[in-house]
Amino acid sequence: MQAKMISDLKTPAFLVDLPILQRNIGEMAKRAQRLGVRLRPHVKTHKTAEIARLQAPGPDAAITVSTLAEARFYKDKGFQDITYACPLDPNKIPEAAQLGRDMRNFNLLLDHPDTFAALESYGRGNKIRFAVFLKVDCGYHRAGVDPEKSESYLLAEQIHNSRYVEFRGILTHAGHSYHCRGAEAIAAVARQEREIMAGFAEGLKKRGIEPIVVSVGSTPTAVHARSWEGVSEIRPGNYVFFDKFMADIGACAFEDCAATVLVSVVGHYPERNQILVDGGALAFSKDPGAVHVDPEAGFGAVTGHPDLRFKSISQELGVITSASRMPFESFPIGGRMRIVPNHSCLAAALFPVYHVVEGSRVVDAWVPHRGW
Ligand SMILES: Cc1ncc(COP(=O)(O)O)c(C=O)c1O
Repeated sequence: MQAKMISDLKTPAFLVDLPILQRNIGEMAKRAQRLGVRLRPHVKTHKTAEIARLQAPGPDAAITVSTLAEARFYKDKGFQDITYACPLDPNKIPEAAQLGRDMRNFNLLLDHPDTFAALESYGRGNKIRFAVFLKVDCGYHRAGVDPEKSESYLLAEQIHNSRYVEFRGILTHAGHSYHCRGAEAIAAVARQEREIMAGFAEGLKKRGIEPIVVSVGSTPTAVHARSWEGVSEIRPGNYVFFDKFMADIGACAFEDCAATVLVSVVGHYPERNQILVDGGALAFSKDPGAVHVDPEAGFGAVTGHPDLRFKSISQELGVITSASRMPFESFPIGGRMRIVPNHSCLAAALFPVYHVVEGSRVVDAWVPHRGW
């Protein structure tokens, strides 16, 4: 049977460039090894078994997930060490308890005394011990306890002293690294992330709470950190694909972007210097991109044509334009474009299958897991 080619695919289609993906995975593994930390990759970017096995091979594989559905999926695929890195909803405690019974190590996350109380109460009533991380805010201000406040230490002490909740460690996500511009600025956020977490761990040690795991992560800081002293593990996720956002802020080169959306040209409008393609918000998401770096970032980058701008999207359609004359002859009606999305995690989430490509050949098809 003749191999399938990219040109045979129906659009819009989500493509994963296998050699680039493998290179990104290898580079991050080397970074972690060089700086002496364990890599516990976040798999929410792709939600496939295939990519997770490339990121976390071997019997000691440890991964991070963002939903209980992912935790169940990866448990069924043989993963035995999973951190569910979203603050826990107390209504989901019975489900989390079952996952804890079903695998070697299932870590939960909390940052509120009420969540701790709910876990303790369930643990007492059901003779279960939960493994828990305390979420710490290192400057992103989305979630986590304030490392400057005495209540944060108090909560850590309560977890540590509990019979039903085992204190595994502290965890942070430096999402504010996404607001940076360039490697130096990202390295400074990585330093702040490390110093805050190592300092908090030191404060806990003085209170007799040790040893604990110190878990940090975000793709930009994992790429540009110069030291992870005092840190045990990193949890980057986006790095497998990278995307236009990461390239724009300087977390990767444009050539490192492994995920593209294949679209077809469905309209030519020379009077407006515009081309219409069959991929809109349901193929790219409405993520506005790194507008702090480039206010004209648009919704993605057309590969091989840096002069083109992905100007606007509606549900199923996208408008491509250019500051100079649009090369209509290079993109006839029915012709194809490959576009690097602004945010690969959100674009990937819109597709039921990823087409794995090498050059112009389609070599595999990977099916992501969905749901909550
Ligand atoms: C708690 C947590 N850890 C790790 C990550 C991975 O970071 P990134 O998407 O920058 O790779 C995320 C991403 O949102 C996260 O929320």
